[in-house]
Amino acid sequence: MVPMKIGMLGSGRVGRTIASRLVELGHDVVVGARDPDSPRAAGWAAEHPAGRAGAFRDAASHGEVVVNATAGTASLAALAVAGSDSLAGKVLVDVANPLDFTRGSGRGPLAVTNDDSLAEQIQRAYPAVRVVKALNTVTADVMVRPELLPGPHTLFMAGDEPAAKQVVVGLLGELGWPAGDILDLGGIQAARGMEMYLPLWLSMMGALGTTIFNVHLVRS
Ligand SMILES: NC(=O)c1ccc[n+]([C@@H]2O[C@H](COP(=O)([O-])OP(=O)(O)OC[C@H]3O[C@@H](n4cnc5c(N)ncnc54)[C@H](OP(=O)(O)O)[C@@H]3O)[C@@H](O)[C@H]2O)c1
Repeated sequence: MVPMKIGMLGSGRVGRTIASRLVELGHDVVVGARDPDSPRAAGWAAEHPAGRAGAFRDAASHGEVVVNATAGTASLAALAVAGSDSLAGKVLVDVANPLDFTRGSGRGPLAVTNDDSLAEQIQRAYPAVRVVKALNTVTADVMVRPELLPGPHTLFMAGDEPAAKQVVVGLLGELGWPAGDILDLGGIQAARGMEMYLPLWLSMMGALGTTIFNVHLVRS
């Protein structure tokens, strides 16, 4: 493994979970937050002396690879603060789901759907960024420890640039995802289905009573 500089946008549950695992694996991680001195961001940095917390712009500038782990309805605003100059040319792993928690009955409908997706909105807004949608279909703990589930299970990925997807497959491999369990769905437009999977994921979570689950795709 070659240590990489990773910029994490978001100090929420997903941001801190992925960042912690990446530090554990030896990567150089900056967690970006609206307020780097907040208990979540500064607390994470205090627990991970090899990493540090900063503003969204610091994290984006630092990363060779940047992870968008912000609330989906706030992602474009967060990326605007990070700045197009900090993001240009970088691989951006988009983990976010555009659930609108201001509407609906607590779980939130999708703010963008059907003929568009958050990942496509990001790609359109930042054409120089190499957006790869991945990891948004499993809970944070499964993202970084797929071995929590027995046997093979499937992770989806979409993005326009094959080289960027290869970088992401490499990082996913370090997290424990075998390449054979990663299904490349094609261009970034396929992120629509990955994001529209969320209502089904939420129903499965309700039916199963746990977030620690995933699907395994089988074919003839
Ligand atoms: N939770 C999961 O297991 C899971 C699984 C798959 C995908 N996802 C997706 O991953 C993303 C993060 O999830 P999470 O569970 O970590 O959420 P969370 O704990 O609620 O964190 C939300 C993140 O969004 C940022 N944010 C919120 N409002 C913002 C605003 N107005 N402007 C800029 N940034 C704002 C926060 O920034 P600060 O750091 O400044 O607080 C925080 O980092 C979401 O898109 C979610 O749908 C989550």
